[in-house]
Amino acid sequence: MIGVLVSGEGSNLQALLDDGLPIVAVASNRGEARALARAETAGIAAECFPLGAYESREARDAAMADWLATRGVEWVVLAGYMHLLRPVFLERFTGRVINVHPALLPEFPGAHAIEEALAAGVPETGATVHYVDEGVDSGPVIVQERVVVEPGDTVETLRARIQAVEHELLPRVVRDLCLAR
Ligand code: GAR
Repeated sequence: MIGVLVSGEGSNLQALLDDGLPIVAVASNRGEARALARAETAGIAAECFPLGAYESREARDAAMADWLATRGVEWVVLAGYMHLLRPVFLERFTGRVINVHPALLPEFPGAHAIEEALAAGVPETGATVHYVDEGVDSGPVIVQERVVVEPGDTVETLRARIQAVEHELLPRVVRDLCLAR
């Protein structure tokens, strides 16, 4: 069973839901994330764990891990989740936490990958699904798909093409990994 961590729009969460994957819990660091509303619409347990409500990041991450484990979560998918995870969380789901990122890692890690790829003038960028460690988009790569940067691309047009790739790639990888074990 799968738990998904989100911080924003939730288009990747929606792609996972539309694929019919066994998602049982969705957690966020931001109460206003549209992704939480998508989970509620789909009838899935959704909860917010804002940093400010806890003594430390460790305490927040431990509470979030407890909440997911209570719901039977075995695999955790980061779908636009924009905080790092502490070891106290990762050790609860060792080797079973994955993330999607809008660049060909190790190029352009962090929260502004699409803006940085455009500014760098690279001819191609893409999408990566990788295992999560304590660093910023730094865990081992599982799969990558390339996206050509077209002349005249803006952040919006490039993001749309990268996310179209993500919406196909992420459910496929999650299905292969989570349902194979
Ligand atoms: C996605 O494009 C994802 O790759 C990116 O945030 C977006 C979330 O969109 N993640 C990162 O940049 C992680 N470093 P969504 O909320 O619509 O799925």
